[in-house]
Amino acid sequence: MTDEGSAITASDVATAATRLRVRLTNAGIESAAAEAAWLLEAATGLTRAEQVLERDRPLDEDEVGRLEAWLRRREAREPLQLVLGMAPFHGLELQVRPGVLVPRPETESLVERVLASLRFVAAPRVHDVGTGSGAIALAIAAARPDAIVTASDVDATAVLVARANAAALGLPVTVWASDLLAAPEAAAAVAAAHVVVANPPYLPEGDRGRLPPEVAFDPPEALFAGADGLAVARALARQAAPLLRPGGMLWLELDPRNAEAFADELAAAAVWREARVEADLNGRRRFVMARR
Ligand SMILES: C[S@@+](CC[C@H](N)C(=O)[O-])C[C@H]1O[C@@H](n2cnc3c(N)ncnc32)[C@H](O)[C@@H]1O
Repeated sequence: MTDEGSAITASDVATAATRLRVRLTNAGIESAAAEAAWLLEAATGLTRAEQVLERDRPLDEDEVGRLEAWLRRREAREPLQLVLGMAPFHGLELQVRPGVLVPRPETESLVERVLASLRFVAAPRVHDVGTGSGAIALAIAAARPDAIVTASDVDATAVLVARANAAALGLPVTVWASDLLAAPEAAAAVAAAHVVVANPPYLPEGDRGRLPPEVAFDPPEALFAGADGLAVARALARQAAPLLRPGGMLWLELDPRNAEAFADELAAAAVWREARVEADLNGRRRFVMARR
């Protein structure tokens, strides 16, 4: 009989790693081994390499208590980033908390595209709409110390979290509360911007109740945007178009199911000189760039 899937209890590092992995697997989590190592590192301070080298080191009572509590939350499919209160994003460690979208790895590709499009622009100005945890704005500010980066979000908790992340990372990103570009500061930032970037809510309403269990922990206002998922993107493009300077760009992350249609819509509107779709690292065409 095996006790691999049982409580962490007093055990050594290797035994705890196995029990974590088995229980995560039993909870239906695909990346169980990686998450087990991440949990162990957060509980003990041991890096992945140290977890191998110190496999016989006993866990103390506090470590066991923390691991068991975190594991139960993760078994209930709360995202690991919320369990630990931290999300890695483009080389940064961001604080995350319930009520604010956990930044996703695919959004790092949007950051890369924005950075590439600004390669030859000195002291670029960038405004991030719907900044959430501040992920996009902060990653751009970290990569381009000469940039002037601002951000906004309609949600008060997101504004607080983004500001806290900017302060913790020592990055000079100003964050305002604004429903799209309704706040004068946000509109002025867009008028001055070389790039307006957004990862807006973009899921069709019909997806409600059909998403992985972890997504239930994200605020619905950060996810859903009308019947075709384009209501927020459409409103943002409509508000940004008359403000952006000639040559100014709008970069959006959308759903691969609706990005092409949205680029076609923008291309058909005389106000945009160019609109195109680009793929993420998995080949899913989800990033739309429109140029004034
Ligand atoms: C998909 S989340 C993206 C968060 C963050 N940019 C990221 O990539 O992790 C969408 C964000 O847009 C914000 N949002 C939704 N509607 C908005 C609106 N009308 N005006 C401004 N922000 C809005 C939500 O509060 C949420 O933070």
